[in-house]
Amino acid sequence: MRIGLLTGGGDVPGLNAVIRAVVKHGLGTHGHTIVGFRNGWRGVADGAVVQVGRQDIRNVLPVGGTLLGTDRYHPHRHEGGLEAVLATLEAERIDAVICVGGDGTLHAASIVAEAGVRMVGIPKTIDNDVEGTDLSVGFHTAVNIATEAIDRLHTTAESHNRVMVVEVMGRNAGWIAVNAGIAGGAEIVLAPEEPFDIDQVVRFLTHRHRAHASFSIVVVAEGAVPREGSGMTFEPQRGPNGEIVAGSASEQVAREIESRTGFETRVTILGHVQRGGSPTPTDRILGSRFGVAAVDALEEGRSSVMTALRGGEIVLVPFAEMAGKVKRVPPDLLRAARVLA
Ligand code: F6P
Repeated sequence: MRIGLLTGGGDVPGLNAVIRAVVKHGLGTHGHTIVGFRNGWRGVADGAVVQVGRQDIRNVLPVGGTLLGTDRYHPHRHEGGLEAVLATLEAERIDAVICVGGDGTLHAASIVAEAGVRMVGIPKTIDNDVEGTDLSVGFHTAVNIATEAIDRLHTTAESHNRVMVVEVMGRNAGWIAVNAGIAGGAEIVLAPEEPFDIDQVVRFLTHRHRAHASFSIVVVAEGAVPREGSGMTFEPQRGPNGEIVAGSASEQVAREIESRTGFETRVTILGHVQRGGSPTPTDRILGSRFGVAAVDALEEGRSSVMTALRGGEIVLVPFAEMAGKVKRVPPDLLRAARVLA
């Protein structure tokens, strides 16, 4: 078989483990040819191909990013994009494609699959919001990085008697915020799933600082918003494609906290640091398992499915079950973050 392989959307640590597993299992075990596409779906549309062999995957497990490159290009959103993708796949005699991506890239994969291409998806996103899988590649590393940052902010917050507002990624779901918030012992976690009441936040901080502490850590997901009718309103600042701009939520929350409490407040926006550097063993293992499972799925003649982790096991989820959905943080996890404040 000639298997096309691409990584699309925001990069995450652990993508090279996926690529390595696909090459080792696809080429090594089965003798298939692995045809890599540069920079996600853009490379497929442009015909930017590169054969990926054993020498390319040497020592890549600890390396962050993706050796194939990535991009947020979605062929169906560009005139002639889908046709260009299909033409490249035909010209390269691709029998099947393994597409590694978050919701946007996998949605594009499902559209290409509908046009008759055999396709297996692998979920990756530090946001962990791909529906149908307990974990996506990259999330575990991001939570580690955010937790370490919160640990470090604790000591400087305490030394200076400050409120530290830490913004983590997550425009649609607060998985990093809630998990790193719990692991790092944050006082308050604001996630998109639960619009916040600034009066409550201010009351809580005032009481805490009066009673027993002179510092606090407030974790804010990029997509956190105030509850309608509560004491604060803001429209998140948006970029050219309607995406929430980093820093928009945390800056506004910090301003409000400082002006209402009088506590000196600082903002740290972790940003792309959360996506950089070496993956944790958990992400290396997950990426490796997904890569092996994707090749196995093609061997079994499966298509239009995504590899997924459910209860510790790798399963295949039909695209139809996850497409267009966002996996949100469940109430019990949100509650744990709340009661541990
Ligand atoms: O890929 C997901 C993500 O990391 C989000 O958490 C974040 O909001 C966004 O990407 C940032 O996008 P960009 O890399 O295009 O700035």
